[in-house]
Amino acid sequence: MEDIIRLAVRIDSFQYPDRTRAVSNINLDIRKEEFAGILGSNGSGKTTLLKIMDGLMKDFKGSVHLDGADIRKLSPKEIYRKVGLVFQNPDEQLFAPSVFEDVSFGPLNMGFEEEEVARRVRGALRDVEMEDYGGKSIHNLSFGQKKRICIAGLLAMGHEILLLDEPTAGLDPMGEYRMMDLLKRLNREKGVTVVMATHNVDLVPLFLDTLYILSKGSIVRGGPPEQVFTAPEEMSKVKLRLPQIAELIYKLKHEDNIPFAKIPLTIGEARREILRTVGLLEGPSAPERRGGK
Ligand SMILES: Nc1ncnc2c1ncn2[C@@H]1O[C@H](COP(=O)(O)OP(=O)(O)O)[C@@H](O)[C@H]1O
Ligand SMILES: [Mg+2]
Repeated sequence: MEDIIRLAVRIDSFQYPDRTRAVSNINLDIRKEEFAGILGSNGSGKTTLLKIMDGLMKDFKGSVHLDGADIRKLSPKEIYRKVGLVFQNPDEQLFAPSVFEDVSFGPLNMGFEEEEVARRVRGALRDVEMEDYGGKSIHNLSFGQKKRICIAGLLAMGHEILLLDEPTAGLDPMGEYRMMDLLKRLNREKGVTVVMATHNVDLVPLFLDTLYILSKGSIVRGGPPEQVFTAPEEMSKVKLRLPQIAELIYKLKHEDNIPFAKIPLTIGEARREILRTVGLLEGPSAPERRGGK
């Protein structure tokens, strides 16, 4: 991640025409090549926030700047050269009969020559590991494959910032992992800035640089995952929970008085922390201490 702010989001408030106040008091900077997550329960305002960040909804109070320019003053073309939103439901995004036609729609619209379009489509399909699917009918793809094609469509236009609305929703456990792995690869290897909305607390600590917790339309906490995940009670206040492994270690520490030094968020960290703590327990005074408790 570089210390260059690409999206500066300052939303005082936004309400839908029926007066539902969907987001308020948002102060969020997305840096170049950052992999950020917006974590919130259903109805917390994730989709609304992403749509505002993508320039799709403009009647909010506040400002959004993209590379220093007021997003409300940019044309859709200027925005879509840099930022794109992957919808939660790929069927709302895909429309062409075949994979190749769908992914080529963006670059064709941008006015590229046929050869360049084909080069971009091939590259984008390779990036999402779907290079052999160009001729396939969109209809016959699995849900996870459709999601990948949506991402390819944006990559083919050369997007540097991907906003994704619940990219792992609706996928099986392996599909979830593969999707996160793909996003991480795009981020690390291609320098794509990624902002994803999710409620998947178990997966995000493995992949994300920064996490923002959204509750009732406002960001209540932000930072690296190990700072953002706090006590289970704090998480349940915002209708979320800790990653399961963290919850287990938290209970062992606080209810069974096992002296864990920190609360790990991933299986790997938990394994190291358990081995370290077991080592401590096996010291010469351990039986005494156990007997005393
Ligand atoms: N088109 C709409 N009209 C009115 N209210 C809406 C509309 N879309 C979403 N909302 C409301 O705005 C709030 C935030 O919704 P949303 O951004 O979809 O949350 P999330 O994506 O986190 O589930 C919710 O209270 C929801 O009911
Ligand atoms: Mg949503």
